[in-house]
Amino acid sequence: MARYAHITGWGMAVPERVLTNHELAQMVDTSDEWIRSRTGIGERHIAAPNESTATLAVEAAIKALTVANLAPDQVELIIVASATPEHIFPATACLVQDRIGAVKAGAFDLSAACSGFVYGLNMAAQAIRTGSMNNALVIGAETLSKFTDWEDRNTCVLFGDGSGAFVLQGSDEPGGILSAVLRSDGSGGDLLIVPAGGSHLPASTETVKNRQHLIQMNGREVFRFATRVMAQATREAVQAAQLTMDDIKFVVPHQANKRIIENAANQLEISLERCLINLERYGNTSTASIPIAICEAAEDGRIQPGDRLVMVAFGAGLTWASLVAQWSGPFPTKHKVYPAWYRVWARVSSLMRRFRRHVEGLIWGTKEQG
Ligand code: UT7
Repeated sequence: MARYAHITGWGMAVPERVLTNHELAQMVDTSDEWIRSRTGIGERHIAAPNESTATLAVEAAIKALTVANLAPDQVELIIVASATPEHIFPATACLVQDRIGAVKAGAFDLSAACSGFVYGLNMAAQAIRTGSMNNALVIGAETLSKFTDWEDRNTCVLFGDGSGAFVLQGSDEPGGILSAVLRSDGSGGDLLIVPAGGSHLPASTETVKNRQHLIQMNGREVFRFATRVMAQATREAVQAAQLTMDDIKFVVPHQANKRIIENAANQLEISLERCLINLERYGNTSTASIPIAICEAAEDGRIQPGDRLVMVAFGAGLTWASLVAQWSGPFPTKHKVYPAWYRVWARVSSLMRRFRRHVEGLIWGTKEQG
């Protein structure tokens, strides 16, 4: 029997601190008028020093599990899509796994920049459709503010921090993720890049001095690329799902620039009302932008079970991706679970495992010395 991967839970988190265009105008040579008219962005959320990609990811994950009424120990796979992971390694997904108490989950990070959440949803859906697992958590989480060059007005006005998470669950009922299109073009890798800190250009005093650990972008070229692929990828995913644009309630575009979204809507011959747009309040949160836009619309009732959506993203790589999903909502369950409570136990059991490793290390260390 065919298996389907349904979206049964969703959650989002953004830092409390809001940075307005007016504040940015005090920092670099820009204005609220320029930022609004060229991008559509009015403000963005910025992580506090004690917040990171993993902390935002954990918050969104717990909310998504709460909506799905799924206990963390039932999760079998965690994918964190991020352009700003906690470390080069270990994977941010493993830190999330530990902090939420997902004791039976495999966990890995996915690097496809702003397209990462759509890539991740498709990967998790494929795993569920094969029947090899039933419950997956896909998270898009970013703290772009920590990689932003706050002296570069070309980029610092664009980005914001946040996270969004979906729970995917398997069922024999048709629905859920219906089709996906994943694409890349590495010839444009230099157009949007953090040049240093990897094996190509390891960290040195020189790279730090040259600000090469921060985001660099050729905005005009990325803009042209985005307007070339957004509508095309949307059409391809709709066609692959054997649907037409009339079957689609909302297009959920990556929230990078309102002009890019308007251009895509024009090419698709749909009204802007059929696009979910919230970048005015969040800026570009990369992998988190699509799940945050969907969370808000699901929470205020704009998205209802049975509605079909197209998610479409583009970003560094270059990558782009689109996906058609039929909205499901939580599966019926018998008992209420409290995923947030698992965090306390997860903390204790994590400390216990660390302690055991420490003690084992002492014992084995003594034996070797002996
Ligand atoms: O997730 C993917 C991430 N990236 C994107 O989606 C970026 C896609 N690109 C864009 O959104 C747009 O290209 C930008 C918003 C980055 C720039 O808008 P634009 O209309 O393409 O502007 P531009 O790069 O053609 O620059 C126009 C002018 C330049 O001045 P000159 O050279 O004409 O004198 C810039 O120096 O605007 C200037 N400028 C600014 N002025 C005030 C660039 N940034 C700013 C700024 N404030 N923040």
